[in-house]
Amino acid sequence: MLDKPRVIAVCGKGGVGKTSISAMIVREVLKQPENKVLAVDADPAVGLAPALGILAGRTVDDIRNDLIRRVESGQAAGKAEMLAMLDYEMFSALEEKKNLAFLAIGRPEKEGCYCQVNHILKEIIGSMAQSFDFVVIDGEAGIEQVNRRVMENVTHLVLVSDSSARGLNVVKTILTVSENAISYDHAGLILNRIRQASELESIQVPGEVNLTGWIPEDDLIRIADTSGDNLLDIAECAATKAVHACLNNLMENVK
Ligand SMILES: Nc1ncnc2c1ncn2[C@@H]1O[C@H](COP(=O)(O)OP(=O)(O)OP(=O)(O)O)[C@@H](O)[C@H]1O
Ligand SMILES: [Mg+2]
Repeated sequence: MLDKPRVIAVCGKGGVGKTSISAMIVREVLKQPENKVLAVDADPAVGLAPALGILAGRTVDDIRNDLIRRVESGQAAGKAEMLAMLDYEMFSALEEKKNLAFLAIGRPEKEGCYCQVNHILKEIIGSMAQSFDFVVIDGEAGIEQVNRRVMENVTHLVLVSDSSARGLNVVKTILTVSENAISYDHAGLILNRIRQASELESIQVPGEVNLTGWIPEDDLIRIADTSGDNLLDIAECAATKAVHACLNNLMENVK
């Protein structure tokens, strides 16, 4: 076991490759047989499960809604019992595949209500993370949700963009928002779907972030998505090799 888990949160604009990159990071860390890995799908559309070849079961949101229903119908017990129940249900919601565990967060919560339940859930996820070497979070297209709904502390904030100005603008916005919203040790930018190296010359990397690396446009990744193949089982390809290099770079930046 590592002394503390490496918590990698993957964020960026819609459609830039967050889920594919999260799945390929999971694939890389699972290559070390001693690593225990928790993959967290923080996207309501639950795209990470199929990318990992996992059938998603109950989500954190299902557990939360059940509890709220019980509170509203007067069935819920005291705080200690509630905590024990949530803890148990959260562990039962983990889908396991050898050294990989998977947890889906579910739909966004209703604004402003049931803060206590949300707080407890976040604490449980935080303490759950301590049993793993790596936690990989496939985020929604924004950091606020990751902070509010999933975990307070990440070690690596990974921002993904394609070479578009819009993708890079979202990266800048996330960096600004995350300054106050989330604590992280290291922020890195991964440029995805690069067709030729010359594309990189015109890209201005925002000052607050390190360029972790870039991933080429790779037909194997696109085809796997169309045919429903998971990214843990596909052959080694240019994209998986590039993710390997990106992960090495990220792990050089560990506090
Ligand atoms: N390096 C790559 N080469 C080729 N295709 C890629 C690459 N990265 C991602 N794709 C393809 O781009 C599409 C979007 O990728 P993905 O679903 O990972 O993005 P996302 O950021 O998670 O999207 P969303 O915001 O909708 O969750 C998918 O069809 C995926 O197969
Ligand atoms: Mg996705």
